Amino acid sequence: MNLQRLTETARSLVAGAKGLLAMDESTGTCNKRFAILGIPQTEAFRRAYRELIVTTPGLGECISGAILFDETIHQQKEDGTPFLKILVEAGIIPGIKVDTGAKELAGHPGEKVTEGLDGLRDRLVEYSRLGARFAKWRAVIAIGEGIPSQGCIEANAHALARYAGLCQEAGLVPVVEPEVIMEGNHMLEQCFNVTERVLRTVFDQLYAQRVVLEGMILKPNMVLPGLTCSTQEGVEEIADTTVRCLLRTVPAAVPGIAFLSGGQSSELASARLNAMNVRFKSRLPWALAFSFARAIQQPAMAIWKGDNTHVLAAQQALYHRAQCNCAARRGEYNAAMEKR
Ligand code: 13P
Repeated sequence: MNLQRLTETARSLVAGAKGLLAMDESTGTCNKRFAILGIPQTEAFRRAYRELIVTTPGLGECISGAILFDETIHQQKEDGTPFLKILVEAGIIPGIKVDTGAKELAGHPGEKVTEGLDGLRDRLVEYSRLGARFAKWRAVIAIGEGIPSQGCIEANAHALARYAGLCQEAGLVPVVEPEVIMEGNHMLEQCFNVTERVLRTVFDQLYAQRVVLEGMILKPNMVLPGLTCSTQEGVEEIADTTVRCLLRTVPAAVPGIAFLSGGQSSELASARLNAMNVRFKSRLPWALAFSFARAIQQPAMAIWKGDNTHVLAAQQALYHRAQCNCAARRGEYNAAMEKR
């Protein structure tokens, strides 16, 4: 294992004020988002959309790495240039989603476990040969009546750690994503307690599987009240609660924490990340960055709507969101940035 290279890649992913762009929606998820906007759900439209993203002028100023899906890593621009080449030339490190999705966990109604370990070693070798330098695996933890169960948390944490170990063996930096999802009417405190429990278990398992913390990135949820909870705390309280949870659970050896957006609005995701950096940045052992999919892409997708005459406007919207999140990393984001 080349520890130095792993550590350097992990550090580059969270260097400066840049962050990750998650553009690794599975075919099913991408189609679902297309369907809502009336975009045809075909390979050709998915390719065109991903071309729009990777060719956005200036993207590399704000984005350190892009997470691709298997279909996308093999695709090219209309003129035949591979997407991977375009990203690398823009200074963006290519990554790849390697889990095969969250499936019902046997014996645990309402809970899921993420699959994809079978054959993973060989797939990682192939992705590395193609040029990927990091990978992602997402576990999903729901909050509800009597859940999450210990069995669900342990199964997901174990799979994340097995995946992370295999990634490091193959020279890829694992982005470890245990997502406590926002759906539900739970209070902020419940999300705090569940996130704390999940992260403790994940780091126990990472240790048991001998994952080198310096060569990984954590991609957690922010600590938030449920989407339908009647009490929605302000940006600063969310920032304080999230950082408190992370300080209790994430070892200082981890170079960076890159949040998922999880269905927050684009503006709130930026504002909350900004508040964390304003209030805590100088006192934290790890970088607080972003690895958003929806909170970066959604406005652009809604402008594009599958119409090629909208590509430039959509790219401007994508670039703008990337810039807002860079500003949030520096603690310099403000509402005026949204008035364009
Ligand atoms: P969201 O930012 O839309 O939550 O997506 C992040 C991600 O990569 C989910 O796996």
